[in-house]
Amino acid sequence: MKRKKIVAGNWKMNMTLDESIELSNGLININKSNVDIMIAPSFTNLYPLKKQFDAHQIDVIAQNVNQNSKGAFTGEVSVEMLKSIGVNCVIIGHSERRSLFGETDQILCKKVNYATSNGMNVIFCFGEELQQRQNGNYFDVIQKQLEVGVLSLSTEQIKKVTLAYEPVWAIGTGVTANPDQIQEIHKFIRNLIHQRFEETISNSIRILYGGSVKPTNAVEIFNLADVDGGLIGGASLKFTDFQSIVEAADV
Ligand code: PGA
Repeated sequence: MKRKKIVAGNWKMNMTLDESIELSNGLININKSNVDIMIAPSFTNLYPLKKQFDAHQIDVIAQNVNQNSKGAFTGEVSVEMLKSIGVNCVIIGHSERRSLFGETDQILCKKVNYATSNGMNVIFCFGEELQQRQNGNYFDVIQKQLEVGVLSLSTEQIKKVTLAYEPVWAIGTGVTANPDQIQEIHKFIRNLIHQRFEETISNSIRILYGGSVKPTNAVEIFNLADVDGGLIGGASLKFTDFQSIVEAADV
């Protein structure tokens, strides 16, 4: 089955409003007929970018969301708030949220559950740490992250999920997992989805790779059978790099 590729730029805590607009002025001109482009700016830049991108088939997505509908949660942003400005997709489970902000599998499960039951699409991130890779138990780690995070969802909910395999040792390090390592895990993930859901779901769910994707390795990674695009950190902040990565996916 042919799945349309996604290239999603995760800007993390970078870009003031002016810088965002400047970069976006270039992004709107990128040719993207066969690829879905998504940009995840900071909360403060979601609305202005949403307005800028709307006519240009670029989706603006959030980097985080709270698992409650509203209330006394100082500093947090809800699904309803995102939807009220037309943002319909959020990244959940990024390794920085897990390691720096204490988001456990259980919290992430609540976030995914709440978001997907309330009309949001989710990019769910997961992946092993270096030591787990070296110990050889990375399949167990990934399986557990998926079991808690998405395998208990209903069919309607899983249809709203895109998966992003991001080995922690490859994020922001310049080290990329090699193509065999990536395809091995992506196939394993698709099999897990197949064991739990109907074949149409496992065939259609998009599984992104993230971790030091750059113009020099994007073509090779995106050509792998079970890779449906990428979640791009550092390289999404540089216009020419991001443009090349989109071109690599636009097949
Ligand atoms: P990187 O980040 O591309 O800078 O490695 C990827 C990510 O954090 O999603």
